[in-house]
Amino acid sequence: MTIKNIAVIGAGAMGNGIAHVFAQNGFLINLIDVSQEQLDKAIKTIKTNLDRQVSKNTISEEIKNKAISNIFTCTSLKDGVAKSDLVVEAATEKESLKLQIFKELDEAAPANCILATNTSSISVTKIASVTKRPAKVIGMHFMNPVPVMKLVEIINGYATGKEVSKTIVDLSRQIGKIPCEVNDYPGFVANRILMPMINEAIFTLYEGVAGAEEIDTVMKLGMAHPMGPLQLADFIGLDVCHSILKVLQEGFGEPKYAPCPLLTNMVNANNLGIKTGEGFYKYTPGKKELEVSERFK
Ligand code: CAA
Repeated sequence: MTIKNIAVIGAGAMGNGIAHVFAQNGFLINLIDVSQEQLDKAIKTIKTNLDRQVSKNTISEEIKNKAISNIFTCTSLKDGVAKSDLVVEAATEKESLKLQIFKELDEAAPANCILATNTSSISVTKIASVTKRPAKVIGMHFMNPVPVMKLVEIINGYATGKEVSKTIVDLSRQIGKIPCEVNDYPGFVANRILMPMINEAIFTLYEGVAGAEEIDTVMKLGMAHPMGPLQLADFIGLDVCHSILKVLQEGFGEPKYAPCPLLTNMVNANNLGIKTGEGFYKYTPGKKELEVSERFK
């Protein structure tokens, strides 16, 4: 199946990154969000990130301009997906919202259109079950920041068709990514392994074994991770980490995945990391150096 027109639902950090990468590789993108303000912000971010690539000589000015001209924005889901060959949903990570979106997508998108979700932990099989085309529903889990990270975790739901998986694997390669196919079980592979590590780092801090900076330094310098687990948790969003751990805990019925009480407290206090200005670290606009949050020094 040939893919040319792609709709991306949700203009947040993941949605704008996904639109950026597809547009840069010649695909025509409808970026859809209920908020025009969010769409304008996303276009601004995409331009900044493309400029960054031009200044690093990873793409030419011509590719940048072409990428920008390949992206259209739209506030109506129905109109935005009407001519799509593929939809990639990257809305907020909330099950009820995703189920509602997929019901609407199933009504509005052409019958042969593949419906992909960028969910980080919600069951692809469950999402597919609210549509009349479960064989055409698949997980396409990009990593943040999308223009930089090579992996796309491809999640085959219980009913995903082989041809659909192949199309999405080939497409991921076409946009310069490395696809990795996995089956649909809680957390898939990426977050089943990443989140317990992050949770254990939070327990290590909670129990007073070491400070935030020391924990992150051990993992950065000792394991060659680009970011320590606490900084990474702030980058992903502590609310997202918390909800993925709950999916693992409930999905496997295993208490070992229960979120650390410190993580729960921080989420309740709305200290969610970069997006709220404070998590394990404090984020001041324009300041590049990492500053440990006062209570974790
Ligand atoms: N768009 C384009 N380029 C970008 C970018 C963006 N949004 N963000 C960073 N870059 C580029 C920079 O221009 C730079 O390019 P060069 O190497 O050519 O110089 C490169 O990426 C590195 O950026 P920086 O120098 O600004 O900063 P850094 O060296 O500290 O790297 C980082 C930043 C790439 C984010 C790095 O710290 C990293 O890889 N961190 C781990 C990220 C990670 O684990 N992501 C997965 C999170 S889990 C997830 O997404 C899924 C989930 O379900 C929770």
